[in-house]
Amino acid sequence: MKRVGLITSGGDSPGMNACIRAVVKSAIAVGCEVVGIEDGYQGMIEGRGKLMVYSDVTNIIQMGGTILGTARSKEFRTAEGRKKAHANLKEWGCEGLIVIGGDGSFTGAQILSEEFNLPVIGIPGTIDNDLYGTDHTIGYDTAINTAVDAIDKIRDTANSHRRIFFVEVMGRDAGFIALNSGIAAGADEVLIPEEWTDIKALVENVKTCLKGKRSTIIVVAEGDDAGGANDIRNHVAKDLEDYDVRVAILGHIQRGGKPTAFDRILSTRLGYEAVDSLLKGEKGIMIGVNGENICKVSLESAIKMHASPSQEKMALVKRLRTQSD
Ligand code: F6P
Repeated sequence: MKRVGLITSGGDSPGMNACIRAVVKSAIAVGCEVVGIEDGYQGMIEGRGKLMVYSDVTNIIQMGGTILGTARSKEFRTAEGRKKAHANLKEWGCEGLIVIGGDGSFTGAQILSEEFNLPVIGIPGTIDNDLYGTDHTIGYDTAINTAVDAIDKIRDTANSHRRIFFVEVMGRDAGFIALNSGIAAGADEVLIPEEWTDIKALVENVKTCLKGKRSTIIVVAEGDDAGGANDIRNHVAKDLEDYDVRVAILGHIQRGGKPTAFDRILSTRLGYEAVDSLLKGEKGIMIGVNGENICKVSLESAIKMHASPSQEKMALVKRLRTQSD
C-alpha cells in the first residue's frame, strides 16, 4: 500500500492531533504517503484532501482539537454522498483509510468499506470512552481530568455557601465520564444513563448527606434517563426547598485542552499500530488497548456491542456516600 487516507470524525477529542502525528510519521517512515482529509467524511465528499508531510505534524502532539477538522456529515449517510467520497479517495490514489472517531464514524467506515471493498482501520477517538473492545479511547483521560479539576473548584464554593450542586458532564449515551470523574472528585451521587435514576431515593440521600456536611456534589451524565442536571434539579426542587440547589454544566470545555500524557501515549501507540496493521494487509478492525497491550477487534463488534461502566464502581460510589457522624 503506497497511499492511505486519514480522517478525524465525529466529536473531537484531546489526543487526536497526537494520533494524526503518529499516523503520518510512521507511514512516511516506511514509504507510505498519507492524504489528510479535512472535516471528516464531509471533506472527503467535497474533495478536500492533501498530501501530508512531516512539517504538517510538527509541534502538534500537545495540541487539543484536530488539525484536520471534524464534522458529523449528513450527506455521507446517503449512497450518493458515499459514492462521491469514494470517487475522491480513488482520485487521490488512497488504497486504504484510517478513521479516528467513535461508533458513528466507524459505522460510516464499515459501510464505505463494504460498498467499495476498501480496507479500513478504526482508531477509537471520543471523550465518551464508550467503545466496545478497548479499555480507553483517545481523549477520555483528558476529559475526566478536566471534569475533576472543575468539580474540585465547584466543591470549594459549594462548601463555602452550604450548597447542593448538580454538575453535568458530557455523555449522552454513556456514563463513563460521570462515573469516573465522580469517583475522582468524591461525588456523593453519580447519575448515569445505564442506571435508572430513583428521584425519591436521591432526595433522601441528599438530605442524609447534608446532615454530615455543608455541601454535596452530584455528578450527572447529560444523557441520564431522568434528564440533564437542570431537569434533575427541577425534579427535586419541591422536596429540597429548604436548600440552595445549584447547577453547573461543564459542556464543551471537556472536549478541549492539552491532552494528558496518558492520552498522548495512547494516541501515539494507536496511530502507529493502525499504519502497521493496514500495511500488513489487515482491514475492518479497530485498534484498541487491553490493559497494557494493544488489541484488535472487528469494526463490526466495536459498532454493535456496547461498553458499560463497571457495576463495581457504581457500588463503590453508593457505599462511600456521606452519612451523618
Ligand atoms: O461524543 C462525544 C460528545 O462529546 C458527547 O459526550 C456529547 O453528547 C456530544 O459529543 C456533543 O456533540 P456536539 O459537540 O456535536 O454537540
